[in-house]
Amino acid sequence: MPQLFPGEVFANTADFDTGIRQLIPRYDEMLEVITCCLPPTTHRVLELGCGTGELTLKILKRFPDAKVIALDYSPRMLQFAQDKIKKSGYEHRWTGIEADFGDWANNPEKFEIGNEFDASVSSLAIHHLEDEMKFKLFQQVADSLTHNGCFWNADPILPELPALAEVYKAVREEWITQQRPELAETRAEVGITDTQGYSHSDQLATLDTHVQMLSIAGFETVAIPWKYYGLAVFGGWV
Ligand SMILES: C[S@@+](CC[C@H](N)C(=O)[O-])C[C@H]1O[C@@H](n2cnc3c(N)ncnc32)[C@H](O)[C@@H]1O
Repeated sequence: MPQLFPGEVFANTADFDTGIRQLIPRYDEMLEVITCCLPPTTHRVLELGCGTGELTLKILKRFPDAKVIALDYSPRMLQFAQDKIKKSGYEHRWTGIEADFGDWANNPEKFEIGNEFDASVSSLAIHHLEDEMKFKLFQQVADSLTHNGCFWNADPILPELPALAEVYKAVREEWITQQRPELAETRAEVGITDTQGYSHSDQLATLDTHVQMLSIAGFETVAIPWKYYGLAVFGGWV
């Protein structure tokens, strides 16, 4: 089996859109929360770790004037996103860039994407960075937003107690078996990941740690618009 980049999840990229909905409870609802939290005036959006473009498509549909610049280090995922975005007729409003967002956080001058974004979004990607890099990324996001710009991230969070870890695990397994009773079949499609660039296998932080990092990184107001057991949407405004 080929080694995957952290976050690619499935050995076969074509399995991602169905498989992620089986693995992540309320995946669509979680992404809808991000799109609903973007202001109606949203025009320029930076997406970190776009994957196959599921969040991107929701944003481009909801905001007919918005343009999305999307970073993802996986050429396989980017290709999938590009094909879907083209099929939906949105290609003139989307720019996909093959890049590591950790590299962007450390060396923004290397990237010709500018700043002055109205919003930045991410889902199920940043939890692959170590906490120090998460913080640097949040700082870089804060620096690249316009005044009153916002950032929303959906990610798994570290349970505060082992007892909660058990609860979150049980809820997730129940979800997976409801979607597809043969849990082993879904698991069999999940590939093996190795460290790639700044990303590793899951590097979860508690919600409280995320909130503190965002405040120190420059977000004036921090908010948690959605939480479901071990998953949360959090972010704020600069
Ligand atoms: C689980 S997928 C989620 C994709 C999409 N945001 C969604 O919610 O469906 C995570 C994505 O983040 C990307 N990713 C992970 N670490 C990254 C990094 N350091 N730089 C750029 N992309 C990264 C992976 O390649 C993958 O496409």
